Amino acid sequence: MNLWRSVCFHGGWLLGLGSVVLRADEPKNHDFDVIREESKVPAYQLPAALVSAEGRPITTPEEWFRIRRPQLISLFGNLIYGVVPTPETPVQTSVELLKTDRSFLGGKAIRKDVRLRFHNTQGEAELRILVFTPQTAGKPSPVFLLHSFSGTRDDGHDADPGRPGHLRNGVPLGELLQRGFGLVVVPQSDLTRHNEVEFLKGIHPLFYRQRQSFPKAYEWGVISAVAWGGSRAMDYLETDADVDARRVAIMGHSKMGKTALWTAAQDTRFALVISAQSGCGGAALWKRDFGENMEKMVTRFPYWLCRNAARYARNEDDLPIDQHELLACIAPRPLYVASGADDLWADPVGEYLSAHHASEVYRLLGKKGLDSPTPPPVGVALTDGDIAYHNRPGGHSVDLYDWVKFLEFARRQFGM
Ligand code: GCU
Repeated sequence: MNLWRSVCFHGGWLLGLGSVVLRADEPKNHDFDVIREESKVPAYQLPAALVSAEGRPITTPEEWFRIRRPQLISLFGNLIYGVVPTPETPVQTSVELLKTDRSFLGGKAIRKDVRLRFHNTQGEAELRILVFTPQTAGKPSPVFLLHSFSGTRDDGHDADPGRPGHLRNGVPLGELLQRGFGLVVVPQSDLTRHNEVEFLKGIHPLFYRQRQSFPKAYEWGVISAVAWGGSRAMDYLETDADVDARRVAIMGHSKMGKTALWTAAQDTRFALVISAQSGCGGAALWKRDFGENMEKMVTRFPYWLCRNAARYARNEDDLPIDQHELLACIAPRPLYVASGADDLWADPVGEYLSAHHASEVYRLLGKKGLDSPTPPPVGVALTDGDIAYHNRPGGHSVDLYDWVKFLEFARRQFGM
C-alpha cells in the first residue's frame, strides 16, 4: 500500500496527494531527450575515490580523513553545490520555542514548533522547524530529520483526522513513534523562498560582500542553503533534552534527498543518512548518462547547484569528481540509498552503482558496503551491511515500504 505519494512539478514542489500518483516519468513532468535504455548508455570512467588530487593512492583511514575527504568536500562545494561564504559580520542565531503540544497524536507525541532566527547587520531570516518526539519518560529519543518540501506554517504537519497515525501531508509519524523515533521537519522554503531566482531574500543577503547581490559561481545555490539550514537545525537539536542528537538519521526525497546527502557529507554530526530517489545531483552518477543529466538539471533548475556546475553540462567527462565520492564522504556512517523501479529519471541503476563504488571507502574504514557490481532484483532490499539499498516497484514517491525499511535499518544501526 502506498501511503505517501508525491507529485513533482518543474519547480520541484511536492504535494502529498493521498493515493494520486503521477510517476516521475510522466510526459508532463519530464523531458524525453535523455537516455532511458540501458543498452544506450555510453562507456564512462569514474574518478577513483581512493586516489588523491595529486595522484597519490590513499591507503589508510588516516589518509582518507586527512587528505582525500577534505579534497572531495572542497570539490563538491566549489564545483557542484556551492560553498557557504564567510559573512562580513557574524550571523547570530536566536532560538524561540513558539509552541509545545504535549497531546499530539492522541498523546503519543510531543510537538514543538521552534523558530530559529538568523541575523546580522545585513538582515535576518528565519527557519521554523518542528520537533516531534515520543512521549517517553523524559528520555532523549533518536529522530529522523526530514529535509522537507512542505512548509511548517500551514496545516500539513497537523495530525490527519482521517488517517490515524499520519500527518496531513502523509508522513506516517505513528510508524516512527512506534519504533522509538521522533521526527524533525526542516522545510526548504524558509531560507530560499521560492528559490529559483530570489537570492535577494532568504538567507543569502546575510552573507553577501559589499555590492554583492547574487551568489558567485562557486557560492551556495539552493541545495547548499537548505543544507546549511539542516546543520542549524542540528545545532538546535543538540540543546533539546527530548532528542538524542547523537542518533539523528537525516533523510530526504528527490531534491531533498540530494540535499540530505550534501548536508550529511559536510556535517558529521548526522549519524545515519537516507537518500530516497535523489537521482541526478544526489546518489546517481553524473558520468553515467542515463535519465536526468547535468544539462537538464541546470537548464530547468539553474540555481539548485552552484553556477560552476553548468560548465559540466554535456561535458561530464571533465568533472574531476562523481557522486559515489559524495556518498564516500558519509563513510563510515550508515547510508541507505533507495530507488523506485519506474523512476527512470532518477536512474536507479546509477544510484546503486554509486553506492557500490563508494563501498571501497567503507571497506577501508572497516565497514560493509555493497560488493556486487550488479544491482539486486526489484523488490529485494539489501539491508544487512552499512550501506543499504533497495529498488522497490513503483515510481517517484516515499511509500510505507520505504519508511519501514529505513526505520528497521536505523533501529539495527542504532542498536535499538
Ligand atoms: C525534478 C528534478 C529532479 C528532482 C525532482 C524532485 O524531477 O528533475 O532532479 O529530484 O524534481 O525534487 O522531486
